[in-house]
Amino acid sequence: MPRPDAEKNTRSCYGVKILTSQHKDIRRIKRDQESPSLHGNKFWGSSYLIMDYLEKNPLKKDCKVLELGCGWGLAGIYCAKTFSARVTGIDADDAVFPYLQIHALHNGVEITTQHCYFEKISSEQLSQYDVIIAADICFWDDLAATVYQLINRACKAGVGKIIIADPERPPFFDMAQRCVDQYYGELLQRTVDEPRRASGCLLVIENN
Ligand SMILES: C[S@@+](CC[C@H](N)C(=O)[O-])C[C@H]1O[C@@H](n2cnc3c(N)ncnc32)[C@H](O)[C@@H]1O
Repeated sequence: MPRPDAEKNTRSCYGVKILTSQHKDIRRIKRDQESPSLHGNKFWGSSYLIMDYLEKNPLKKDCKVLELGCGWGLAGIYCAKTFSARVTGIDADDAVFPYLQIHALHNGVEITTQHCYFEKISSEQLSQYDVIIAADICFWDDLAATVYQLINRACKAGVGKIIIADPERPPFFDMAQRCVDQYYGELLQRTVDEPRRASGCLLVIENN
């Protein structure tokens, strides 16, 4: 599945071009700006689980997608590239956005970004989206309640589908179990082997 690209220090996976840490553009960003401070310092494997799931469960063309805790934003870039989705990436750490935008540029897509904490995303804002995706955003204990409340707002605001991937950290399961009980969410185990092994769980809520 992954294939080395003609361009140096890049690889392709699920049709998305990913720059390695050796790529000149990544090195330039690392050199010129402060490092991300909330674990957005690299691209995490759970995004592959979302891409793998969406390969088999495609989104409608041109839908509006919100990526929460987007970091480098590769799952959102995948949606923009594969489904012509209109994607917004939200993150509390604006130091991640240059990494997202350089990947968007290399992939020929446009992604809107917004600097915002989960707690501050309003119901009105959430109501503008068809789909929410998120990878590895429940990594501290207190994020379980924060993310649950955010999903609660999103469901009440009418977001049609929510997909959250995680490497199976305990706070994720705390949050996910509440969503299974409240919104009939489904928990799906998933493993991908390429471009590197990633395994974990997807919480999928169909909110129709
Ligand atoms: C483990 S990283 C995952 C990044 C990306 N989703 C990925 O899979 O590569 C967690 C991301 O969530 C963001 N984040 C953490 N707490 C947040 C909060 N309360 N509100 C918004 N973003 C937050 C971090 O800045 C970081 O980019």
